[in-house]
Amino acid sequence: MTDWSSAGFATRAIHAGQEPEPRTGAVTVPVYQTSTFAQTEVGQHRGWDYARSGNPTRDALETALASLERGAHGVAFSSGLAAADAVLRTLDPGDHVLLANDVYGGTYRQFSRVHEPWGLGFDPVDLTDPPAVEAGWRPETRMVWIETPTNPLMAVVDIAALTQTAHDRDALVVVDNTFATPYLQQPLPLGADVVVHSTTKYLGGHSDVVGGAVISSDDRLAERIRFLQNAVGGVPGPWDAWLVLRGLKTLAARMRVHCDNARAVVAALAELEAVREVLWPGLESHPGHAVARRQMRDFGGMVSFRMANEAAALAACARFEVFTLAESLGGVESLVEHPGQMTHQSVAGSPLEVPGDLVRLSVGIEDADDLVADVRKAIA
Ligand SMILES: Cc1ncc(COP(=O)(O)O)c(C=O)c1O
Repeated sequence: MTDWSSAGFATRAIHAGQEPEPRTGAVTVPVYQTSTFAQTEVGQHRGWDYARSGNPTRDALETALASLERGAHGVAFSSGLAAADAVLRTLDPGDHVLLANDVYGGTYRQFSRVHEPWGLGFDPVDLTDPPAVEAGWRPETRMVWIETPTNPLMAVVDIAALTQTAHDRDALVVVDNTFATPYLQQPLPLGADVVVHSTTKYLGGHSDVVGGAVISSDDRLAERIRFLQNAVGGVPGPWDAWLVLRGLKTLAARMRVHCDNARAVVAALAELEAVREVLWPGLESHPGHAVARRQMRDFGGMVSFRMANEAAALAACARFEVFTLAESLGGVESLVEHPGQMTHQSVAGSPLEVPGDLVRLSVGIEDADDLVADVRKAIA
């Protein structure tokens, strides 16, 4: 297999783990739609024996993801939440996690209703605020769970600084890199121990697959996660692995357009009187702008904004035409949603409840002029 490690990002996205198939020369990795693999003698096989334990299409995806995040190991899962679950299962009952205080609602739900009842302690904390991190730290804190930018409030956490604090106290740092993607931000070279992804979003990129991944250079941790992938069984099927692999090939090109279109949409939002506040790390007024400049290549395609009140936010959501009103994000098509009543409904009444006047946009790669016109018409 060629070593692509010194190649650029877009080259690795297209080639790492994706050599032409040796038997036929097919340039795309085949979909190995099989549940089992023939053995010549008992225990003698070509590296794969059963498709939950391993599948060549999934292997290709895992190699590509590890290469893009600059990690040694990639482990693919059937969803982003299955990936998160595997990471949390590496902890023991009694361990404690500091969690970003505006993580994706489903992540919070998993912490509070799946892992906490089994004995894992956690506290949501403003990870952008060092004194708050200090106050939340406990002797049994073993992990810090970062999302940056956060979903949906677009807070930016300083990965390198927080990693320093965590490592000084022997805690691991996990970064959910779903919003930024490895094209814009690579947490492992910044010092983090683990990256998790919902590959459902930008990595798949076409709103046609649900998947997740864990990437790490920590051999022991990766081995445990690999064990859990097989032992718990939340694996992606070969078609789903193939769809994410196909999405990766255009990630760099798509992200450039997502970022440029977001810039145009943000400029339009900033001029609208009905918009109280625009949340996007590319704005110089954003509290995380300087950190984002340092740790991201560009500022991403996710934009949130606040209207006068919840009624105005709900009414705006219903008036978009090019932006589709739907959950999820990161696909080629632009989406609009009301986090309070849609993606983050599961955190209503919790410390993570999001403001009702908030609207979230996943800015797609359509023509910027059409997106800007849609925003103006929906809000003005
Ligand atoms: C930042 C983030 N992490 C994780 C997830 C969960 O991923 P999945 O829906 O693939 O389980 C989501 C889903 O929206 C997300 O936005």
